[in-house]
Parts: sequence; structure tokens; C-alpha cells
Amino acid sequence: MARFTLPRDLYHGKGALETLKTLKGRRAMVCVGGGSMKRFGFLDRAVAYLKEAGMEVELFEGIEADPSVDTVMRGAEAMLKFQPDWIVAMGGGSPIDAAKAMWIKYEYPDITFEDMCKVFGIPELRKKAHFCAIPSTSGTATEVTAFSIITDYQKGIKYPIADFEITPDIAIVDPELAETMPKKLVAHTGMDAMTHAIEAYVSTANCDFTDPLAIHAIEMIQKDLIPSYNGDMAARDKMHNAQCLAGQAFSNALLGIVHSMAHKTGAAFADYGAHIIHGAANAMYLPKVIAFNAKDPTAKKRYGVIADYMHLGGKNDDEKVALLIKFLRGMNDQLNIPHCIKHYGADSYPCEQGFVPEDVFLSRLHDIAVNAIGDACTGSNPRQPSVEEMEKLLKCCYYDTEVDF
Ligand code: ATR
Repeated sequence: MARFTLPRDLYHGKGALETLKTLKGRRAMVCVGGGSMKRFGFLDRAVAYLKEAGMEVELFEGIEADPSVDTVMRGAEAMLKFQPDWIVAMGGGSPIDAAKAMWIKYEYPDITFEDMCKVFGIPELRKKAHFCAIPSTSGTATEVTAFSIITDYQKGIKYPIADFEITPDIAIVDPELAETMPKKLVAHTGMDAMTHAIEAYVSTANCDFTDPLAIHAIEMIQKDLIPSYNGDMAARDKMHNAQCLAGQAFSNALLGIVHSMAHKTGAAFADYGAHIIHGAANAMYLPKVIAFNAKDPTAKKRYGVIADYMHLGGKNDDEKVALLIKFLRGMNDQLNIPHCIKHYGADSYPCEQGFVPEDVFLSRLHDIAVNAIGDACTGSNPRQPSVEEMEKLLKCCYYDTEVDF
């Protein structure tokens, strides 16, 4: 038996933000990031709509990108004081993910972060509050997923919290919010979405309910991401839907080791001055993981189906896999994303010598490989790597060398 869970309601299209007027409750806590939602006027509009719905509103502002355990704990304390019956999280994946974790701690104040990270181990929520998510980036799809990614900065590791309990009650997918994204954010979040769709399609937990969502998302992203990056706002609007479809697929089909590796490398070199931004990490590792997974016959066939839907050509599955890898690398080139960690600059752009020194990478390689294998996303990958294989794969992602094992 398997389960397929989505938010109870999904409002989409321009103007969907107004749905906030219809929420029924007494107190809403609005959680946002570092200021973009305020700057572009979306926060004021959301607050006004909630007040129109008769609610008292309090803000929790300043949630950082890659939110920390500390931020989660602070937010939960604010919620315990204010006692909201609605949590409205608006912005990129970071504030929405943080608010999901705050929600758990608000409902269960004694729960520890370690307990939250037990996969599908969250106790029943919604005894105190319901959750509405409003994305302003087109990638994480956290507005429809059962996941939240929180970073433990002491360990330099991103932990996924995974449970259908944290699938939001309402998702508001209003493309206007995504129109203000700078180009780099479009590129990274867009490739995050492409990775979600491809990993969901080849995941061992794929099913009849997730496949059409994943395939349609892939087709849309193939068509719309580059134009969106180049400023086509109609394509930008379509990307907002496409990433949400990808999220609906992967929330139920789960992911694979591209994400395991991105989670475990993202903050691993923070002491050298930068993070490997999640979407860029996915974009760099995806072609390598496809080559690795394609040694599994079922996965190879499924990559072939993806290539067919993308009209990439190829006479047999080997050729189709090669063409898919080539196409994705071409997308990275057009989006100004490097192909490997060695050439990943602190500003995320390609450069001759990236911010992660080779000797540091090699000295941390074993631990990162062990952590990646232990990541919650590894279990549903179509081919289970050994620690040695994971080390080799990570090395290919550092040097941009061929995966031939
Ligand atoms: P992701 O969706 O990749 O997780 P994030 O970590 O939540 O994104 O946000 C990354 C950056 O994009 C943040 O600096 C965020 O700004 P705020 O923290 O000030 O909100 C910014 N950002 C998110 N949505 C945006 C939008 N629509 N326009 C401009 N900047 C945006």
C-alpha cells in the first residue's frame, strides 16, 4: 500500500493571493524571509487580506536562507506566545520550510529537533493551527510537499524533515510573486524543480499517480525555464505551475541521491565563505547521477522515456540517456551554472578555481559520502551506492569527470 497526499486546496493564477480573505480563524502568524516580500508589497497585501478576514495578525520576519535550528526554535516560541490558529508562510523555500518546523514545535513544545528528523515520525498536527503556504520562488514546491529542510550549522548538515503531517492545508500558487525573482534565483530554483521531477520519475516509489505529474513538469520546465530566465514573464508564470507539479510528484514519489548529495555538500564548506546553493548543486550533480543510475536497467528505461517526452531523439536507451545528460548540461550552460564543484565560485557562477579547495574537498570526502548515504532521500534512489561508489561519484561532481562505474 502507498499513500498520495496533497494540500486540501490549491489556489493558482494571478490574484490567487486574495484567497487569504477567505481564511477562517482568529489569529494568523505570517512568516517571511529577509525582506523581499515586504519590498515588493506582497507582505502588506497579505496582511491586509488576513485583516479583512477578521484576523489578528503578527509577523515573524527575517527567516534566513537555509534556515537554522535556532531560527526554528525562536519562531516556535513566538507562536507559543501569540497562539495562532493559522500559520501563513510566504516567500522562498526557506521561510516556508522554517515555518513548517516551527509549526511542529508549536504543537509539540517538548519535541526535539532529532525527533522531528525521524522520517514519517511526526505526531498528529492541526490541534492548534492550520498551515497556508505561498511560494515566491519557482523550485522547492514546499507549498505542496511533506518536506522541510533545516540546517544544523554546528554539524554543517542539512536535515530533511519528512512527514505528510507537514503537507500544508492550503497552497496559494500566485505567479505574480515569482515575477520579481532575479535571474540567478530563477536559474537555481528552476533546476531544483527539474531535478525534483526527474528524480521522482525514476524513484523506486514512483507510481501511476506521480508519473504524469513528473512528466508534465519535465516537459514544461524544458520549454519554459530558459525563456523565464531570459525575462519572458509568460514563461515565468508557467514555471511557477511547473515547479508545483514537480513538487506534487516528488512529495509522493520521493527523491534520490542528487538531493542526498546536495543536502550533504550544501553547507559542508561554509567555513570557506559560501554555501553550494541547493538548486545549483542539484544542477551540477544531476547529469552525474543519471549516468550512475542508468546502470540499473529499470532506471535506464525510465530515463529513456523522459528523453522521448522531451523529443531528444536517440535510437536506444543508451543513446537516450546520453542525450538527456547532454541536454541538461546545455541547460546549465545557458543558465550560467558551472558543471562541477571545482569551478563553482563563491558567487555561484562558473570560474577557474571555485571556493572549495581541492585538498579540503578530499579531506572531507569520506564523511560527506557517509552522510549522503544516510540522507533520507537515498532510500528511494533506483541504485543503492556503496560508500566507495558515493565517494567516486562525489569526486566526479568535483572534477567533472565521466561516471563509468
Ligand atoms: P529557495 O526557494 O531556493 O529556498 P530562499 O532560500 O527562500 O529560496 O530565498 C533565497 C533568496 O531569494 C532570499 O534572499 C530571498 O529574499 P528574502 O529572504 O528577502 O525573502 C529571495 N527571494 C525569494 N523570493 C523572491 C522574489 N519573488 N523576488 C526576489 N527575491 C526573492
